[in-house]
Amino acid sequence: MRLLTFSTLILFSLIIILHSSSTTKAHNITRILAKHPAFSTYNHYLSVTHLADEINRRRTITVLAIDNAGMQSLLDKHLSISTLKNVLSLHILVDYFGAIKLHKITNGTTLVSSVFQATGAAAGTAGYVNITNLKGGKVGFGAEDNDGSLHSFYVKSIDEVSYDISVLQISQPLSSADAEAPTSAPSAINLISIMSKQGCKAFADLLRVSKALSTFEENIDGGLTVFCPTDSAVNDFTPKYKNLTDAKKVSLLLYHGIPVYESLQMLKSGNGVVNTLATEGANKYDLTVQNNGEDVKVQTKVVTASIVGTLIDQDPFVAYKINKVLLPRELFKVSEMAPAESPKGSSGSKKKKSSSGNKKGKEESSSSSSSDAPADGPSADDEEADDQKAADHNIGAKEGVTFIIFFFTFFIGILLL
Ligand SMILES: *[C@@H]1O[C@H](CO)[C@@H](O)[C@H](O)[C@H]1NC(C)=O
Ligand SMILES: *[C@@H]1O[C@H](CO)[C@@H](O)[C@H](O)[C@H]1NC(C)=O
Ligand SMILES: *[C@@H]1O[C@H](CO)[C@@H](O)[C@H](O)[C@H]1NC(C)=O
Ligand SMILES: *[C@@H]1O[C@H](CO)[C@@H](O)[C@H](O)[C@H]1NC(C)=O
Repeated sequence: MRLLTFSTLILFSLIIILHSSSTTKAHNITRILAKHPAFSTYNHYLSVTHLADEINRRRTITVLAIDNAGMQSLLDKHLSISTLKNVLSLHILVDYFGAIKLHKITNGTTLVSSVFQATGAAAGTAGYVNITNLKGGKVGFGAEDNDGSLHSFYVKSIDEVSYDISVLQISQPLSSADAEAPTSAPSAINLISIMSKQGCKAFADLLRVSKALSTFEENIDGGLTVFCPTDSAVNDFTPKYKNLTDAKKVSLLLYHGIPVYESLQMLKSGNGVVNTLATEGANKYDLTVQNNGEDVKVQTKVVTASIVGTLIDQDPFVAYKINKVLLPRELFKVSEMAPAESPKGSSGSKKKKSSSGNKKGKEESSSSSSSDAPADGPSADDEEADDQKAADHNIGAKEGVTFIIFFFTFFIGILLL
């Protein structure tokens, strides 16, 4: 009898552990810092610069928070918002350092990549932060381009969710000449050179000699998102491109731009039809953004491309690398590229918030979007997405079963006692 009760208890604890491990919630840095008024200025600027979205999107991240006095010293430098974004992004480390790990760094010193480094805005090693364990339990921080001087120190842990997010207060902002360098006004961004350097040379070469380039450039100030196909995708497509008339070539290139800034977080948080730079009149040359958890796909009626990387994200301009050339139905037959995919129920199709005013907000039902938008055959990406969907279902089912076992065990336990 006693043995039974004992094993029931063990089963009980196992179930509780199993259940709690399967439900990790996404963090929200705005909400975390809202509980700490001493960091309200920092919190405010994380939102203004869209870095809050970047933090919420990432896992295994450390936020080095600066209190209001420290932020005032930074604001006194009268940096532009895009420069301030660079400085603050240096304070977001793409690795997890809780207070304990921070004081036990292997060999006492390490270089950690920051979001400043990860977004490609930093030159050389300027986006790395040196963390060093010092005498008397102190921990020093310094930007790597700052002659190795460790001028900011760990103060306290504000919030930690193990191996997800750690928010630590440091004594003063990390200073970095590179992060504080005036960022070029968006209109001066050299679209062609950025794309060429970041692995989109073939597409940039097409754009360089096209009339479409000026339309891209005119839109940078007001907000511009560019989908840049990889070199191999463009090279495969070249024979077809050469076959197009000049006007159609321009339309095809313009089809790869959206006249509004769409951060990755914005793309991930909603599905919908968007206008492109080639759009004139209703329903012409539009694209469908379709996210599936962490994956973002860009669909035309002819082809489905996946976002495979970010070239630059400097609000109001962002460029993503995609794995296929976007083929508009206005120029290519739906059947031309590949056989139609069998209709597949896609869940979670929600209307995108039309804050930008650019979205048509046309909500496509899952059935119509899959039947009239045949993709280019089931790709590895699609299969991956399905696996993910299946995994999500499994978690749901597991939770249901867990609850039933939980109550059943509870009942038996009470009977036995
Ligand atoms: C995070 O929290 C803030 C404040 O509570 C809220 O306005 C915002 O929508 C939240 N963001 C997400 C992605 O849930
Ligand atoms: C620590 O130092 C040793 C000896 O200098 C070196 O071999 C090792 O790679 C270092 N470990 C790290 C994580 O830097
Ligand atoms: C970090 O800075 C300290 C002090 O300048 C230096 O001694 C150390 O080597 C640096 N650590 C790394 C990993 O570069
Ligand atoms: C180019 O266009 C012609 C005529 O429309 C067509 O027959 C040919 O297959 C096209 N070539 C390519 C590579 O698409």
